Amino acid sequence: MTPFADLSITTPRLTLRLLTEADAADLFTIFGDPRVMRYWSSTAWTDPSQALQMVASDREAAAGRRDLRLGLVRRDLGRVVGTASLFKIDANNRRAEIGYALAHDQQGSGLMHEALSALVGSAFDHRPGAAFDDLLLHRIEADIDPRNAASAASLERLGFRLEGTLRERWWVAGEVSDSGLYGLLRPDWLRRVSPAA
Ligand SMILES: CC(C)(COP(=O)(O)OP(=O)(O)OC[C@H]1O[C@@H](n2cnc3c(N)ncnc32)[C@H](O)[C@@H]1OP(=O)(O)O)[C@@H](O)C(=O)NCCC(=O)NCCS
Repeated sequence: MTPFADLSITTPRLTLRLLTEADAADLFTIFGDPRVMRYWSSTAWTDPSQALQMVASDREAAAGRRDLRLGLVRRDLGRVVGTASLFKIDANNRRAEIGYALAHDQQGSGLMHEALSALVGSAFDHRPGAAFDDLLLHRIEADIDPRNAASAASLERLGFRLEGTLRERWWVAGEVSDSGLYGLLRPDWLRRVSPAA
């Protein structure tokens, strides 16, 4: 088990790690952009101090090992270009929810697929000494606005299946939207990454 504060996941282009105050401007670029936040569960940020609040509340949640948000650092640029989260971690029921956002100018280049493949692979790794070996996660789920085609494609590319739709479940800025509930089971993921196993 790796404490969330010490977690670092490396992919060909990215390093996934906890956010710090130094990332505040990068976070504001992402979460202050209405194009990124169109289908988010809250409206776009309007004040840069919201970034510092995110960093502080993430740190507290990470210490409790119940919610983890990682910054996606593009190593060639040296800045945070997105975030990927495992949250509502429920060790008793061996499940967690996944969430993600990518800066608008970084979309369409496979970065989120790279990040989520690594995060999901790590989350489902039960080998002793693996980062999340204490959680024995069996299921990862996602709750997205069914109109969010890019998000649905990201999930389906990883093998998530749409399991149901809950009607008129979110109210954001006076607009109501449905929840598309997606799930990915560990056995399905393992078959996907090593088909012969
Ligand atoms: C959801 C979201 C993260 C998806 O981002 P994305 O850029 O489409 O996802 P990826 O980084 O995996 O990129 C996929 C695209 O890159 C392409 N791609 C994949 N690997 C690539 C590579 N190595 N080089 C270049 N392009 C590549 C894919 O073909 C795909 O293109 P397509 O959509 O035209 O088929 C993004 O739309 C987003 O941040 N949205 C706003 C926040 C949001 O709604 N989050 C979800 C809330 S539930």
